[in-house]
Amino acid sequence: MSLAELQNVKKYFGDVHAVDDVSLKINENEQISLIGPNGAGKTTLINIFAGTIKLNSGKIIFMGKDITHLPPYKRCELGLARSFQLPAIYPNLTVYDSVRASIISKLKKGKRFYSSVDLDDEVNKMTKEVLELFELYNKRDMLAIKLPHGDKKLLDVACAFALWPKLILLDEPTSGVSTIEKRKVMEKILSVSKEMGIKSFIIVEHDMDIVFSYSNRIIVMYEGKVLADGKPEKIKENAEVVRILLGKVK
Ligand SMILES: Nc1ncnc2c1ncn2[C@@H]1O[C@H](COP(=O)(O)OP(=O)(O)O)[C@@H](O)[C@H]1O
Ligand SMILES: [Mg+2]
Repeated sequence: MSLAELQNVKKYFGDVHAVDDVSLKINENEQISLIGPNGAGKTTLINIFAGTIKLNSGKIIFMGKDITHLPPYKRCELGLARSFQLPAIYPNLTVYDSVRASIISKLKKGKRFYSSVDLDDEVNKMTKEVLELFELYNKRDMLAIKLPHGDKKLLDVACAFALWPKLILLDEPTSGVSTIEKRKVMEKILSVSKEMGIKSFIIVEHDMDIVFSYSNRIIVMYEGKVLADGKPEKIKENAEVVRILLGKVK
Protein backbone atom coordinates (compact mmCIF):
# COMPACT_ATOMS: atom_id res chain seq x y z
CA MET A 1 0.00 0.00 0.00
CA SER A 2 1.29 3.45 -0.82
CA LEU A 3 1.44 6.00 1.97
CA ALA A 4 -0.52 8.59 0.05
CA GLU A 5 -2.08 9.14 -3.30
CA LEU A 6 -3.21 12.28 -5.08
CA GLN A 7 -5.65 11.57 -7.89
CA ASN A 8 -6.32 14.17 -10.59
CA VAL A 9 -6.00 17.05 -8.15
CA LYS A 10 -6.94 20.47 -9.51
CA LYS A 11 -6.88 23.93 -7.96
CA TYR A 12 -7.68 27.01 -9.99
CA PHE A 13 -7.52 30.60 -8.80
CA GLY A 14 -9.68 32.30 -11.42
CA ASP A 15 -7.79 31.74 -14.67
CA VAL A 16 -4.64 30.55 -12.94
CA HIS A 17 -4.31 26.77 -13.06
CA ALA A 18 -2.16 26.59 -9.93
CA VAL A 19 -2.43 22.79 -9.71
CA ASP A 20 -3.63 21.24 -12.91
CA ASP A 21 -4.59 17.58 -12.83
CA VAL A 22 -1.79 16.24 -10.64
CA SER A 23 -1.69 12.53 -9.82
CA LEU A 24 1.04 11.12 -7.56
CA LYS A 25 1.69 8.08 -5.42
CA ILE A 26 3.89 8.58 -2.37
CA ASN A 27 5.50 5.54 -0.78
CA GLU A 28 7.08 4.95 2.59
CA ASN A 29 10.78 5.73 2.82
CA GLU A 30 10.68 8.26 0.05
CA GLN A 31 12.65 11.44 0.57
CA ILE A 32 11.12 13.59 -2.10
CA SER A 33 12.18 17.00 -3.34
CA LEU A 34 9.41 18.99 -4.93
CA ILE A 35 11.04 21.49 -7.24
CA GLY A 36 10.05 23.94 -9.96
CA PRO A 37 10.21 27.65 -10.75
CA ASN A 38 8.34 30.29 -8.78
CA GLY A 39 4.61 30.04 -9.37
CA ALA A 40 4.80 26.39 -10.48
CA GLY A 41 2.18 25.35 -7.91
CA LYS A 42 4.37 23.73 -5.25
CA THR A 43 2.93 25.59 -2.26
CA THR A 44 -0.61 25.14 -3.56
CA LEU A 45 -0.04 21.40 -3.85
CA ILE A 46 1.32 21.23 -0.28
CA ASN A 47 -1.65 23.29 0.95
CA ILE A 48 -4.14 20.99 -0.76
CA PHE A 49 -2.38 17.91 0.60
CA ALA A 50 -2.34 19.29 4.15
CA GLY A 51 -5.92 20.56 3.87
CA THR A 52 -5.09 24.24 4.31
CA ILE A 53 -6.92 25.04 1.09
CA LYS A 54 -9.74 23.23 -0.68
CA LEU A 55 -9.26 21.67 -4.08
CA ASN A 56 -11.61 22.14 -7.02
CA SER A 57 -11.61 18.49 -7.94
CA GLY A 58 -9.67 15.29 -7.38
CA LYS A 59 -9.10 12.93 -4.51
CA ILE A 60 -6.50 12.51 -1.76
CA ILE A 61 -5.87 9.19 -0.05
CA PHE A 62 -3.64 8.93 3.02
CA MET A 63 -2.98 5.70 4.93
CA GLY A 64 -5.73 4.05 2.91
CA LYS A 65 -8.33 6.66 3.90
CA ASP A 66 -10.02 9.23 1.71
CA ILE A 67 -8.95 12.52 3.35
CA THR A 68 -10.08 14.82 0.53
CA HIS A 69 -12.58 16.63 2.72
CA LEU A 70 -10.94 16.28 6.14
CA PRO A 71 -9.76 19.45 7.94
CA PRO A 72 -6.00 19.82 8.55
CA TYR A 73 -6.07 18.69 12.18
CA LYS A 74 -7.76 15.40 11.26
CA ARG A 75 -5.09 14.77 8.62
CA CYS A 76 -2.54 15.54 11.29
CA GLU A 77 -4.04 12.96 13.61
CA LEU A 78 -3.62 10.39 10.84
CA GLY A 79 0.09 11.26 10.64
CA LEU A 80 0.39 14.00 8.06
CA ALA A 81 2.26 17.11 9.25
CA ARG A 82 3.61 20.15 7.47
CA SER A 83 5.69 23.29 7.90
CA PHE A 84 5.15 26.58 6.11
CA GLN A 85 7.08 28.68 3.58
CA LEU A 86 6.55 31.61 5.94
CA PRO A 87 7.06 30.18 9.42
CA ALA A 88 3.69 29.67 11.11
CA ILE A 89 4.82 30.24 14.65
CA TYR A 90 2.75 31.54 17.55
CA PRO A 91 4.53 34.85 18.22
CA ASN A 92 3.63 35.05 21.89
CA LEU A 93 4.43 31.51 22.88
CA THR A 94 7.90 30.66 24.05
CA VAL A 95 9.99 28.26 22.03
CA TYR A 96 9.37 25.62 24.70
CA ASP A 97 5.60 26.07 24.77
CA SER A 98 5.41 26.01 20.97
CA VAL A 99 6.98 22.56 20.72
CA ARG A 100 5.13 21.39 23.80
CA ALA A 101 1.81 22.26 22.15
CA SER A 102 2.64 19.78 19.37
CA ILE A 103 3.63 17.10 21.87
CA ILE A 104 0.40 17.61 23.84
CA SER A 105 -1.56 17.28 20.62
CA LYS A 106 0.41 14.17 19.62
CA LEU A 107 -0.23 12.51 22.97
CA LYS A 108 -3.87 13.66 22.88
CA LYS A 109 -3.43 15.18 26.30
CA GLY A 110 -5.00 18.48 25.32
CA LYS A 111 -8.40 18.31 26.92
CA ARG A 112 -8.19 16.19 29.97
CA PHE A 113 -4.70 17.00 31.14
CA TYR A 114 -4.05 20.57 30.15
CA SER A 115 -4.18 21.92 33.68
CA SER A 116 -1.62 19.42 34.89
CA VAL A 117 0.53 19.50 31.80
CA ASP A 118 3.33 21.46 33.50
CA LEU A 119 3.84 18.48 35.72
CA ASP A 120 3.56 15.89 32.99
CA ASP A 121 6.93 14.17 32.80
CA GLU A 122 6.29 12.48 29.50
CA VAL A 123 5.32 15.75 27.79
CA ASN A 124 8.30 17.62 29.23
CA LYS A 125 10.74 14.85 28.37
CA MET A 126 9.59 14.67 24.75
CA THR A 127 9.58 18.47 24.41
CA LYS A 128 13.15 18.64 25.69
CA GLU A 129 14.22 15.85 23.36
CA VAL A 130 12.87 17.60 20.24
CA LEU A 131 14.30 20.98 21.29
CA GLU A 132 17.71 19.46 21.92
CA LEU A 133 17.69 17.68 18.57
CA PHE A 134 17.01 20.98 16.81
CA GLU A 135 19.52 22.81 19.03
CA LEU A 136 16.78 25.12 20.26
CA TYR A 137 16.84 24.06 23.89
CA ASN A 138 19.09 26.95 24.96
CA LYS A 139 16.53 29.34 23.50
CA ARG A 140 13.54 27.63 25.08
CA ASP A 141 12.43 30.63 27.14
CA MET A 142 12.54 33.10 24.25
CA LEU A 143 9.31 34.23 22.64
CA ALA A 144 9.04 32.70 19.17
CA ILE A 145 8.69 36.17 17.63
CA LYS A 146 12.11 37.21 19.01
CA LEU A 147 14.00 34.39 17.35
CA PRO A 148 16.27 35.13 14.39
CA HIS A 149 14.67 34.14 11.07
CA GLY A 150 16.60 30.87 10.66
CA ASP A 151 15.53 29.71 14.13
CA LYS A 152 11.90 30.66 13.40
CA LYS A 153 12.03 28.37 10.39
CA LEU A 154 13.60 25.61 12.47
CA LEU A 155 10.99 26.05 15.20
CA ASP A 156 8.19 25.70 12.66
CA VAL A 157 9.83 22.51 11.38
CA ALA A 158 10.40 21.29 14.97
CA CYS A 159 6.69 21.74 15.76
CA ALA A 160 5.81 19.57 12.75
CA PHE A 161 8.38 16.93 13.69
CA ALA A 162 7.13 16.91 17.28
CA LEU A 163 3.93 15.33 15.98
CA TRP A 164 6.03 12.31 14.94
CA PRO A 165 4.21 12.15 11.59
CA LYS A 166 4.31 9.31 9.07
CA LEU A 167 4.75 11.83 6.29
CA ILE A 168 5.98 15.38 6.62
CA LEU A 169 5.58 18.18 4.09
CA LEU A 170 8.17 20.95 4.37
CA ASP A 171 7.60 24.02 2.23
CA GLU A 172 10.94 25.74 1.65
CA PRO A 173 12.43 25.13 5.09
CA THR A 174 15.50 27.15 4.13
CA SER A 175 13.84 30.12 2.41
CA GLY A 176 15.11 33.45 3.64
CA VAL A 177 18.04 31.75 5.36
CA SER A 178 21.48 32.94 4.24
CA THR A 179 23.31 30.75 1.74
CA ILE A 180 25.89 29.75 4.33
CA GLU A 181 23.22 28.76 6.83
CA LYS A 182 21.02 26.93 4.31
CA ARG A 183 23.06 23.77 4.26
CA LYS A 184 23.30 23.73 8.04
CA VAL A 185 19.53 24.04 8.42
CA MET A 186 18.91 21.28 5.88
CA GLU A 187 21.51 18.99 7.45
CA LYS A 188 19.90 19.55 10.83
CA ILE A 189 16.48 18.63 9.44
CA LEU A 190 17.84 15.50 7.79
CA SER A 191 19.78 14.34 10.83
CA VAL A 192 16.81 14.94 13.16
CA SER A 193 14.49 13.05 10.83
CA LYS A 194 16.87 10.07 11.06
CA GLU A 195 17.10 10.30 14.84
CA MET A 196 13.34 10.53 15.21
CA GLY A 197 12.70 7.77 12.69
CA ILE A 198 10.72 10.00 10.32
CA LYS A 199 11.47 8.36 7.00
CA SER A 200 9.09 9.88 4.50
CA PHE A 201 9.02 13.51 3.53
CA ILE A 202 8.39 15.95 0.73
CA ILE A 203 10.58 19.04 0.80
CA VAL A 204 10.15 22.06 -1.43
CA GLU A 205 13.65 23.33 -2.03
CA HIS A 206 15.44 25.47 -4.61
CA ASP A 207 19.10 24.73 -4.02
CA MET A 208 19.90 22.00 -6.55
CA ASP A 209 23.05 20.86 -4.72
CA ILE A 210 20.96 20.27 -1.60
CA VAL A 211 18.17 18.62 -3.58
CA PHE A 212 20.43 16.14 -5.32
CA SER A 213 22.31 15.32 -2.15
CA TYR A 214 19.40 14.17 0.01
CA SER A 215 16.47 12.99 -2.08
CA ASN A 216 15.78 9.59 -3.58
CA ARG A 217 12.97 10.98 -5.73
CA ILE A 218 12.45 14.33 -7.40
CA ILE A 219 9.14 15.70 -8.58
CA VAL A 220 9.37 18.67 -10.93
CA MET A 221 6.36 20.96 -11.26
CA TYR A 222 5.86 23.52 -13.99
CA GLU A 223 2.73 25.59 -14.64
CA GLY A 224 0.63 23.46 -12.30
CA LYS A 225 1.62 20.13 -13.81
CA VAL A 226 4.10 17.42 -12.96
CA LEU A 227 6.75 17.83 -15.63
CA ALA A 228 9.04 15.04 -14.44
CA ASP A 229 9.13 12.55 -11.61
CA GLY A 230 11.89 10.08 -10.86
CA LYS A 231 15.26 9.28 -9.39
CA PRO A 232 17.71 12.20 -9.12
CA GLU A 233 20.05 10.68 -11.73
CA LYS A 234 17.22 10.54 -14.28
CA ILE A 235 16.01 14.04 -13.52
CA LYS A 236 19.51 15.43 -14.03
CA GLU A 237 19.56 13.97 -17.54
CA ASN A 238 16.18 15.43 -18.47
CA ALA A 239 17.05 18.27 -20.82
CA GLU A 240 13.68 20.01 -20.52
CA VAL A 241 13.87 20.02 -16.73
CA VAL A 242 17.39 21.40 -16.80
CA ARG A 243 16.35 24.15 -19.20
CA ILE A 244 13.34 25.18 -17.12
CA LEU A 245 15.14 25.00 -13.80
CA LEU A 246 18.28 26.77 -14.95
CA GLY A 247 16.24 29.39 -16.73
CA LYS A 248 13.58 30.13 -14.16
CA VAL A 249 14.43 29.11 -10.65
CA LYS A 250 15.07 32.12 -8.49
N1 LIG B 1 -4.51 32.54 -2.91
C1 LIG B 1 -4.22 32.73 -4.20
N2 LIG B 1 -4.99 33.51 -4.97
C2 LIG B 1 -4.73 33.67 -6.28
N3 LIG B 1 -3.68 33.10 -6.92
C3 LIG B 1 -2.87 32.30 -6.19
C4 LIG B 1 -3.09 32.08 -4.79
N4 LIG B 1 -2.12 31.24 -4.34
C5 LIG B 1 -1.34 30.97 -5.40
N5 LIG B 1 -1.77 31.61 -6.51
C6 LIG B 1 -1.18 31.51 -7.84
O1 LIG B 1 -1.05 30.14 -8.16
C7 LIG B 1 0.18 29.88 -8.84
C8 LIG B 1 0.99 28.88 -8.04
O2 LIG B 1 1.44 29.49 -6.84
P1 LIG B 1 2.27 28.71 -5.73
O3 LIG B 1 1.59 27.43 -5.46
O4 LIG B 1 2.49 29.64 -4.60
O5 LIG B 1 3.63 28.42 -6.50
P2 LIG B 1 5.09 28.02 -5.94
O6 LIG B 1 4.97 27.63 -4.51
O7 LIG B 1 5.53 26.90 -6.84
O8 LIG B 1 5.94 29.23 -6.13
C9 LIG B 1 0.85 31.23 -9.00
O9 LIG B 1 0.53 31.74 -10.27
C10 LIG B 1 0.24 32.07 -7.91
O10 LIG B 1 0.24 33.43 -8.25
MG1 LIG C 1 5.90 28.34 -2.74
